[in-house]
Amino acid sequence: MKRGYFGDFGGQFVPELLMPPLLELEEAMGRILKSAEFQQEYTSLLKNFVGRPTALTHCQNLSRELGFNLWLKREDLAHTGAHKINNTVGQALLTKMMGKPKMLAETGAGQHGVATATAAALLDLECDIYMGAIDVKRQSHNVRRMELFGAKCIPVHSGTQTLKDAINAAMRVWIANQRTTHYCFGTAAGAHPFPLLVREFQSVIGREAKQQFKERTGEMPYMVVACVGGGSNAIGMFHEFVNEKSVKIVGVEAAGTGEPGCTNSAPINLGTPGVLHGMNTLLLQSDDGQILPSHSIAAGLDYPGVGPEHVHLHATGRAEFGMVNDSQAINAFQMLCQKEGILPALESSHAVAWVIENKDTIPKDANVIVNLSGRGDKDMDILDDYLAQHGK
Ligand SMILES: Cc1ncc(COP(=O)(O)O)c(C=O)c1O
Repeated sequence: MKRGYFGDFGGQFVPELLMPPLLELEEAMGRILKSAEFQQEYTSLLKNFVGRPTALTHCQNLSRELGFNLWLKREDLAHTGAHKINNTVGQALLTKMMGKPKMLAETGAGQHGVATATAAALLDLECDIYMGAIDVKRQSHNVRRMELFGAKCIPVHSGTQTLKDAINAAMRVWIANQRTTHYCFGTAAGAHPFPLLVREFQSVIGREAKQQFKERTGEMPYMVVACVGGGSNAIGMFHEFVNEKSVKIVGVEAAGTGEPGCTNSAPINLGTPGVLHGMNTLLLQSDDGQILPSHSIAAGLDYPGVGPEHVHLHATGRAEFGMVNDSQAINAFQMLCQKEGILPALESSHAVAWVIENKDTIPKDANVIVNLSGRGDKDMDILDDYLAQHGK
């Protein structure tokens, strides 16, 4: 495969001024990530700070109702409440070993912002987080958490004031400050080498899930499922299973309200090929290539593009990508609360909703592992607004 590409997708479509830090990062990855010093410290942080391994939970009540075995990989139990910390602890350690004093990051739901601020506090790095002004409002709880950890949260008022615009702002600042700053990218997307770097740190999810499932059942799962925003929790779960041909792989995109003509966040299902944030991928765009606004009730899925490896997995038929709308996600959110005593993030609820909506296609007694990418405390206000608007 061509360097930096997954089939036809990926690459480094960036302004010349961004090439030096990308090349520096690629060199540092090759040199530092494999070193015994990095591996020892990273493994210890995952265990003693992040709280890994996270549990693999068999959902007894929902399994009975659905007719197959539903298992959840509990990234909601990782420190800061989502999978994002696996990546930020790794990138913060890399930043430190590259000799840079500062990280900057973008954030959508605020989970990556919180996780970056947390890792920066731990490793004594300065930290600036760029966040769309709309996301600042709808995830205000997470803004407060970032500030408590000593990070500066900078609202971005351009464009649709969501994740896409936060990434644009962070990239502009990185160009001007590349010598002192590492851009801690939050998902398995963007220009090479970010999709590889983020996959490297998130693939612990699938490695653990495979081992835990084997220990509990002696088998391989029938299917693994994860929601797809930029694609980091999904590729983290999928990577370990891609070469296990018997295991079905399902990514779940956000269909938005699901009403005809509504905005959505499903570029693999509804987008066309194009370039965004340094990668050749599938995008929500107009006929003349302008990026269209995306929508999902889950702020972390609200992105018009997607990581290139997922597009490749789709193109080669190795993974299937379904869609779930806002109301189906809310239904799954409530079912998981009421039947299992687990409060999922709205993002993760999309993955749970897909298996609920497609239960008739899953064989009786099959084992399905859903990656529960985060916890839903951050989403309480959104849930209340949604229920009030829909008279529930
Ligand atoms: C809990 C949770 N799950 C999923 C996502 C989507 O991101 P990704 O596709 O990179 O996993 C986010 C993004 O903020 C998130 O907070």
